[in-house]
Amino acid sequence: MSKLRIQKSKKYQASVIMFVVLAVITGVYISVLMLVDMDSKTKLTYEHSYSAEDIELLSIIPKDEPDKANNNSYSRIVINADNIKEDKLYVIYETSEEFWTDDSGRIGCQYDICIYNNAKYKVSNWTLVLTVSDESKIDSFWNGEYSIEKNKVTVTPVEYNSYINSKASIPIGCIMYTNGEIGIEGYKIVATEVREFQNTDGYTYAIIIACVLLICVLICFIMLMHLKRTNDIAKENAEIINESLYTFANIIDAKDTYTRGHSIRVALYSKEIARRMKKSADEQERIYRIALLHDIGKVGVTDDILKKAGRLNDNEIEIIKKHAEIGGHILEKFGSIDGLADGAGYHHERIDGKGYPEGLKDKEIPEVARIICIADSYDAMSSSRCYRKGLGEEYIVSELKACAGSQFDAEIVPFMLEMIAEGFAPIKDNGDEPKKRREKSHKKPYKISENHSWIWRIL
Ligand SMILES: [Fe+2]
Repeated sequence: MSKLRIQKSKKYQASVIMFVVLAVITGVYISVLMLVDMDSKTKLTYEHSYSAEDIELLSIIPKDEPDKANNNSYSRIVINADNIKEDKLYVIYETSEEFWTDDSGRIGCQYDICIYNNAKYKVSNWTLVLTVSDESKIDSFWNGEYSIEKNKVTVTPVEYNSYINSKASIPIGCIMYTNGEIGIEGYKIVATEVREFQNTDGYTYAIIIACVLLICVLICFIMLMHLKRTNDIAKENAEIINESLYTFANIIDAKDTYTRGHSIRVALYSKEIARRMKKSADEQERIYRIALLHDIGKVGVTDDILKKAGRLNDNEIEIIKKHAEIGGHILEKFGSIDGLADGAGYHHERIDGKGYPEGLKDKEIPEVARIICIADSYDAMSSSRCYRKGLGEEYIVSELKACAGSQFDAEIVPFMLEMIAEGFAPIKDNGDEPKKRREKSHKKPYKISENHSWIWRIL
């Protein structure tokens, strides 16, 4: 048995596309965030000359050392940072409490210097140029490389202190001999401010966006799994429904050997008409299913009437006409397929209102029933019956044309005529989709031939 093609849920397909797109965007976004160096670098230059207000002199009179240079008391010097705190980078120093003199009478002491980074971001590759008095002599320096040119001492970082974090300081220092004056008169510091992206507000927003994207991907994935499960269940249900429909169709057709295959042929013709009417694939499928059960009401007609050889009398005709009404009632509770009862209940209605069971007119008749009516009539005419052989193409075409607008919907008949003209026959090869077949030259009554063996295989 060939199975109906089950349409994939459009919602599921859309969700798959949305998930893939979202996942790719998130992946690219996070990769860019991780790989691209978005740090910005700014060169900072600060220069400061110490003034009297900056310097706090702490008077110390050494016990053992006379004031040989100035005949004065030595003073310990502290640079007061409070006066220069607005600078983003500043240097303060203080001298040691211990003083001594060298052979030439210069006074030496230890200068402990701190470079403070008062900026919001860390700095790197700093260069400190200290202005010292002309007679000053640097004896040694630590935590920095230094060079002297006239009264400028240029200090550069060593490997471990090239970076100064925000609101932090690094210590450097030297031994300096002076003639008694204060050794350091001012400084100039140049550094590169490194605004690391991770420390900016932009990075915070970027992380928030990444989190939102990841949450969206997660939600999308959960939705996808849910939809997949729903879709799988829907597929299973559709298969159960399809198999049930085929079973019902076979039961109907089994009641009369002369109409064997009738339900499936009518379903295929109806689907082809719907396709030519530019109906959607889902709608074509719906019409196919409805047409499969269009004669289900025949189960309510006794075999002696249904299989009667020879013409029916008026009473028997009235009984057999009841199959439309019976079919409508049988299927009225079948809600899984929209309009299923319409096909069974109204496929014998006529456009002119002379049909049965309700005598509906024109567009009062559901469209699916109008389609099935034409397909049903074509198959009835083209198939052999116990009391006659199948009618010829020429006769059938003339009948369809003659009854267009009275029995049949005149807007739908042309599609059936097209199908006849093109020799449409739904051949099933290896269970694949129907193929068109040309039989333009057949003038004989239509009958099942070897080329139509698909009908028997499909049952
Ligand atoms: Fe019927």
